[in-house]
Amino acid sequence: MDNRIETNLEPVDARSSIARAHTRMLRFASRVTAVALNASVLTTRAAHGAPVTARVLVLPSTTATFNRDFTFSSTAMMPPSAPRASVSVPFARAIGPRARPSIRHRTPVRSSTRTFAASGGDYVPGQLQPFGDLSVVGAEAIPDGCQMLVLSVCEADAEKLSADDKVLEGYAPGLAAVVKDMCDEQEFKGAAGSSVFTRVAGLPFKHVGLVGLGKADAIAGDAWMSLGKEATAAAAKSKCTSVAVGKYWMGDEEAAFRGKAEGIAAGAFLGSFEDSRFKSDAKPGPLKTVHVLTQPGVDVASEIAAGKAKASGVALTKQLVAAPPNVVTPSALARIANEIAAQFPDTCSVKILEKEECEAMGMGSYLGVAEASDEPPKFIHLTYKGEGAKKTVAVVGKGLTFDSGGYNIKAGAGSMIEMMKFDMGGAGATLGAARIIAETAPAGVEAHFIVASCENMIGSRGLRPGDILTASNGKTIEVNNTDAEGRLTLADALVYAEKTAGATSIVDVATLTGACIVGLGPEVAGVFTPDDDLAAELEASAKEAGELFWRMPMQETYWKSCGMTSEYADMKNTGSRGGGAITAALFLKRFIEKDTTKWGHLDIAGPVWDDKKGGATGFAAQTLAAWVASQGK
Ligand code: BES
Ligand code: MN
Ligand code: ZN
Repeated sequence: MDNRIETNLEPVDARSSIARAHTRMLRFASRVTAVALNASVLTTRAAHGAPVTARVLVLPSTTATFNRDFTFSSTAMMPPSAPRASVSVPFARAIGPRARPSIRHRTPVRSSTRTFAASGGDYVPGQLQPFGDLSVVGAEAIPDGCQMLVLSVCEADAEKLSADDKVLEGYAPGLAAVVKDMCDEQEFKGAAGSSVFTRVAGLPFKHVGLVGLGKADAIAGDAWMSLGKEATAAAAKSKCTSVAVGKYWMGDEEAAFRGKAEGIAAGAFLGSFEDSRFKSDAKPGPLKTVHVLTQPGVDVASEIAAGKAKASGVALTKQLVAAPPNVVTPSALARIANEIAAQFPDTCSVKILEKEECEAMGMGSYLGVAEASDEPPKFIHLTYKGEGAKKTVAVVGKGLTFDSGGYNIKAGAGSMIEMMKFDMGGAGATLGAARIIAETAPAGVEAHFIVASCENMIGSRGLRPGDILTASNGKTIEVNNTDAEGRLTLADALVYAEKTAGATSIVDVATLTGACIVGLGPEVAGVFTPDDDLAAELEASAKEAGELFWRMPMQETYWKSCGMTSEYADMKNTGSRGGGAITAALFLKRFIEKDTTKWGHLDIAGPVWDDKKGGATGFAAQTLAAWVASQGK
């Protein structure tokens, strides 16, 4: 009697459809034969290429055939006298001697919306090179055939503009009168954030625009990026194929000018960036070339490259946050980390810890959150080693690819459950920052980018309100609200950043609390840290990036008075409503052990998303990249 399960499969690669077929087959096998098999272990082991064998228990008189992308048949069955028997299944690479039937069977990959979305053309979680064939180049003069000219002016310049302005006449004879007219008509005074555009005749280009910088002695850190953004957004809207962007007044010191060129280039890439991955009729935009006007004899190629690296990181963050939760899964985030490491192999390496490894490290707090989801959790650890690294830092991102709230489900108006794909905004910013750091390669710093990624779902195995979890530092947590899940995942990630990665300065970034939005509104993120030096570093980095942060108090008395203490465990995960962003930060602080470790927390729940600016903002990627780079100096 032959009771082997036969398969005509090729050797398994976990990422191939064959691996998925294996997984499904095992799931199917488990249904008809009550096999205790952990298929996620199978795919994990197979990914590492270990040749292994599976054990399958076949119940009597079960006949099963399954014919889709593979052939699966279990034909000759056990005699009734043998209630159960075990048979070896000679998979090319399957589960090994380490197969642990004691691990509860979990279906690792759902074949529904996820396989479907992931199988379609450009439905990628995020691109490392998102700008197609748009090129940004330096130019000493407006090139022939250029269709639009955009210049920045400060308030003082705007005030003294005349119809025969020499600077403007230098760009093109006749331009000054047109610009003067436009400013008068549209009451443009050079204020920061203001801009004017008009169509022109009788000049070498068809459109002209001015972007205000505000007061000359108080120009914002991101003003040059805004100039680039405004210019390419307007050019794309007017269907121009090329645009020239410059300053009204080019007489800077060369070094200062170079910094501006970098900002203009970064903005130019981002201003014309459109995320059409999920449109079925996407067409590439018309804009092909952006000319950054330079002083004579100044080559800005390397500044433009740095600007492009920055923009690529921000665009990656935007794409990760914007993509739906059936595309950006924990596995998809892990894949992006792998892609970054593969693209920059000289400085970057990556380790993805599977569920079993996290179990072995005792990450009960993180794994408790992941428990209800069919999607396997992925603990992502991407390392960058800069030249002559003297300092070790970590960026830790909250990576909830979807937050339903769990049994404390997000229900009712204002709960925003349909927006909770953005609950991996911290992870998105972390990977975006990593992408910027990898390409711009700052010296003197070793940076660890860490994300304990999972979904917060509802299921019979899911976290119950009232459960007590033990984190990897041994602390116990009474989960009085399953919707306060971000801090539970961050707890184990922070312990790992300090103890395993060895970081002496750690910043976490998270869409952590609705309370932070109540306090600071939609545009400003909260900074929480007991360390004044770290607060100052973050403030400087945020200023450079042009992102808005505000320091919040770490009010220790709230730990007790807001109800974070537990009768039976070391702490609860949720306190009273008032001060919710602060008690969340106080909770995180308890997972940093050493007094000498610097730690800060960024709550980006508000600025991660902006409906008026088209959704995902890419917030915090630049601030974090600037902070990491500053640590090497
Ligand atoms: N991801 C949410 C925070 C959030 C809410 C971000 C709305 C952006 C918009 C987080 O996991 C959460 O649910 N927090 C709870 C905490 C509460 C249960 C203590 C919240 O803010 O309501
Ligand atoms: Mn939540
Ligand atoms: Zn959340």
